[in-house]
Amino acid sequence: MSHLIEGRAIAEKVYAELRGEIAELKKSGRTPGLAVVLVGDNPASRAYVRSKDKMCRDLGLHSLKLELPADTIQDELLARVRDLNNDRAIHGILVQSPPPKHIDEAAIIRAIDPAKDVDGFHPVNIAKLTLGDDSGFVPCTPLGCQRLLIESGTEIAGAHVVVLGRSMIVGKPLALLLMRKGKGGDATVTVVHSRSQRLAEITRSADILIAAIGQPEFVRAEHVRDGAVVIDVGINRVDDPTMERGYQLVGDVAFAEVSEKASAITPVPGGVGPMTIAMLMANTVRACRQSTAS
Ligand code: GUN
Repeated sequence: MSHLIEGRAIAEKVYAELRGEIAELKKSGRTPGLAVVLVGDNPASRAYVRSKDKMCRDLGLHSLKLELPADTIQDELLARVRDLNNDRAIHGILVQSPPPKHIDEAAIIRAIDPAKDVDGFHPVNIAKLTLGDDSGFVPCTPLGCQRLLIESGTEIAGAHVVVLGRSMIVGKPLALLLMRKGKGGDATVTVVHSRSQRLAEITRSADILIAAIGQPEFVRAEHVRDGAVVIDVGINRVDDPTMERGYQLVGDVAFAEVSEKASAITPVPGGVGPMTIAMLMANTVRACRQSTAS
């Protein structure tokens, strides 16, 4: 049985650090503010937005939750984003993904002021991550995965990291982050995805395997080398009539069988999820500090 990497406990450590920083900012009359925009009523997105809002309140941040109907038109959403860019009480802006199909998500992301893009999805921030320029924002889930590895004492430098999934939210930025020079980086990174040939052969060569493919229990024992560290980014709702809420949360990793082989593994829930929110709070506090520093 492997060591459990407890995301909730590590997130608490991040919050303890942030509380000190927030108190310092407040002493000088500055309160970090986060705006979260949700278009439509996707139940999973609604739950994420609620958790982000609650965490802002717990930490004493200014939180603005903007819930727009599913038929909101592109121009209306762009206008809301521009208003938030100009709002001095707001330091971070997040538009929950995925938006309804009629919305051009890339155009919305490009409209966010890069200095308020606490999601790290704006092309300017992606470029900075690619170039190794630390002044930009790094997406929250990749940052959370990296912090879990660091806090669990996993050696990243020189390790072979296999990232399963190539999304703009997780896979791609995570690969860039872990191959960056310096602390928390210097890994040898391979990205595999749904079209990769010899996938199991490649994942079995990983010292660190990160599953972000969005398919429940995709990673089985046969994909994992004995002693590997496994990070499960997946949060999939799987129907379960025996549960009161009607579904169960399942990761991208078949936990029971993989935990027999891995040296360390994250649970779902309670692994990467809490860290994503913690990193969003950290990015928001940083956005506030940087906005008033000049
Ligand atoms: N949907 C799932 N994860 C994320 C995230 O990190 N940011 C945004 N904006 N939407 C998401």
